[in-house]
Amino acid sequence: MNTYILIGFMGSGKSTLGRMLADELMLDFFDTDSLIEKNENMSINEIFEEKGEKAFRTLETELVQDLSERQNYVLSVGGGLPAIEGMMSKLNEMGTTIYLNVSQKELVRRLILDAEHRPLIKGMDQKQLEVLVSERLTVREKFYEQAKIVLNSDHLTLDTLSNSLSIQ
Ligand code: S3P
Repeated sequence: MNTYILIGFMGSGKSTLGRMLADELMLDFFDTDSLIEKNENMSINEIFEEKGEKAFRTLETELVQDLSERQNYVLSVGGGLPAIEGMMSKLNEMGTTIYLNVSQKELVRRLILDAEHRPLIKGMDQKQLEVLVSERLTVREKFYEQAKIVLNSDHLTLDTLSNSLSIQ
């Protein structure tokens, strides 16, 4: 089965590296946030504002159910999805899960440049971001760490990512 699922916190590089990996392996690439935006015809920010986070988590769960009927693709999943009940075991059944583990310091550095596009951190300054990353990571790490492969990803390259798949 050639299905690879990238998980990790916002800003861990899932979409960028996922797209590159899919190109290299000549597989389709999907991203849960983009698929939800397309299906709902709304941005993630709008979904959070108009429907709320709980409704967004339901959309994520339903989408994973749909994707589980297909194989042979690279998927990048939203940072909160693995922490929804039952989702890590579902993702592990669907394919090879890879946790892009980025340090809190590096996450904050990356996210501060891109906060406006992300509903959970919109308008936050560095201090607030540090608190959010630390609090959410504490809750999510135990889910992320159930991935089949865990990669230190502060400086992850496509080569290291693809090598980790071939030697698994
Ligand atoms: C979220 C991460 C985002 C997106 C939404 C919520 C989270 O995805 O699903 O803004 O709860 O961490 P990315 O991790 O792809 O940025």
